[in-house]
Amino acid sequence: MIVTNVMAGLPYAIIALLVVAVVYPVIDYFIDRHGLRKYPAPSIAGFSPLWQMYYNYFGVKYLAVHRVHQQLGPVVRLGPKHVSFSSPQAFREIYGHGTSIIKDAFYDNQAGGNPNMADVTSKEVHRGKRKNLSFVFAAKQIIAMEPRVMAIVDKLLKAVAIKSQGGRVSSQDRFAVSKEGTFDLRPWLNMFSYDAITNVFWSQTYGFLDRGDDDCLAQNPDGSVQSVHAMQTFHTGAAWSVFLGHLTPFWYGLFKRQLLAWTFRNKCGDNFTGMARYLATQRLQHPPAVPDLFSNLPVTATAKRPDPMALEEIIAESSVMLNAGNDTTQSSLTNTMYFLARNPDKQTKLRKILKESLPASSIPVASYEDLQHIPYLRAVIDESFRLHAPLGTGAPRLTTEPTVIDGEHIQAGVTVSNQTWSLHRNESLFRDALAYIPERWLPENPDYTDEERQNLKDFVAPFSMGPRACIGRNLAYMELSICIAGLVMAFEWKLGQKDFVLKYHERFNLNPIELPIKATPVL
Ligand code: HEM
Repeated sequence: MIVTNVMAGLPYAIIALLVVAVVYPVIDYFIDRHGLRKYPAPSIAGFSPLWQMYYNYFGVKYLAVHRVHQQLGPVVRLGPKHVSFSSPQAFREIYGHGTSIIKDAFYDNQAGGNPNMADVTSKEVHRGKRKNLSFVFAAKQIIAMEPRVMAIVDKLLKAVAIKSQGGRVSSQDRFAVSKEGTFDLRPWLNMFSYDAITNVFWSQTYGFLDRGDDDCLAQNPDGSVQSVHAMQTFHTGAAWSVFLGHLTPFWYGLFKRQLLAWTFRNKCGDNFTGMARYLATQRLQHPPAVPDLFSNLPVTATAKRPDPMALEEIIAESSVMLNAGNDTTQSSLTNTMYFLARNPDKQTKLRKILKESLPASSIPVASYEDLQHIPYLRAVIDESFRLHAPLGTGAPRLTTEPTVIDGEHIQAGVTVSNQTWSLHRNESLFRDALAYIPERWLPENPDYTDEERQNLKDFVAPFSMGPRACIGRNLAYMELSICIAGLVMAFEWKLGQKDFVLKYHERFNLNPIELPIKATPVL
């Protein structure tokens, strides 16, 4: 009887699905409530989020969007209510200060009901969160973390010395080495970034570099604890929530939280939150003797701040610190080492400058205080940011009132974006845009004009710009400078294969897949 009823209802269910998935989007497209039909769109992008989802699924959306702009012009439609721009002016108008534009519902999807500073969409709530965290990232606090980062760079160098000889850092080391001493540097840089952020933020170093294994603990909401692999957990969870993130919050909730809640990909996202929950609760239970970055969070009531952060908020902010603190840093490190290995002349030049500029006691691990005055080191990092920014995609924003972007009148309620991958390759801003030339960043280099230098300042935006720009920028430059300088002073780097080209899988961040490399000690 039940089966008969279900079968009888099936045609209606199929009709309802067709109406929702096909008929309604087509009608909506032709009604054109937001006036977007005038903009060109690739294939089905004007009707459906499936265009973006398809390219996100395969990790190449940044390339698809770049190509679409080359073919269809500076303003294109990527989704039913999503317009992408490619002009430099539009970048500033979307992301800069003084607009009514906010983060898009894509971020509400990522937040899953407990937003952190990076995915909260309300301007007002964001302001409060940013205030809570701004003290954490003040230059003084970051400088105090320098010795911790230096100690972890030291561990990385020891691990590289072992891997380059075909060895294992411990019996748990699960990463392969070929007979010729070629090894994949990427996971080691990622283990470095995890060890560094867990040390400076929660004083609970994961210790991945000691073991050569990225297993760590994740705590479920019921308090139970399990062991997970950090890299796979984060990358799988991020790819999944970004893929589904293009859906409206209703459909996102239905698929992610209901229909597909049982999938491994979904569980990875929850387990990553579990990693942050474990770090936060352990840190609250066992405060360290020496202050860390967490010490600056208002987690207990004081006369000045009678409303401390609630546990759920502490977990949410811990989650974004673990996320942003590991992934963009590892991508930047991998990209920079790739460019240096690919350009031996730049690598040799950097090594020479570093060794000539630093006292013997700072070789190979120097403090940021010493390193930040070496323009070529900064130029090497900044040029890598320009060519392969760790966030290549156009971070989606939402207009809340009619807004003019690049001369186009955009109504309220439209998603707008502009991707750094394309902006940073704009030949009208950067001469030989596809070439890796750190020298273009050097002050007073006669080969480049003041206008070209100003373009670098104004339009290379790896940390985004405006009110939602990265709060961790100082920490990132400190980690990258100490780590890159250490790696270059201690070893000579050669690509595993001469013509190797670094490939990427884009989740939200643009993640390098692998960097097979050889390291020869030079000390
Ligand atoms: C090379 C390293 C880094 C790069 C390239 C980078 C890049 C970015 C970018 C592009 C954004 C804007 C994202 C958006 O619009 O959705 C952002 C935001 C943010 N980043 Fe970073 N980031 C880096 C390192 C860090 C570190 C080390 C931390 C902290 C541990 C951090 C914490 C944050 C936070 C909390 C936000 C949200 C800021 C807000 O909305 O007010 N980032 N970052």
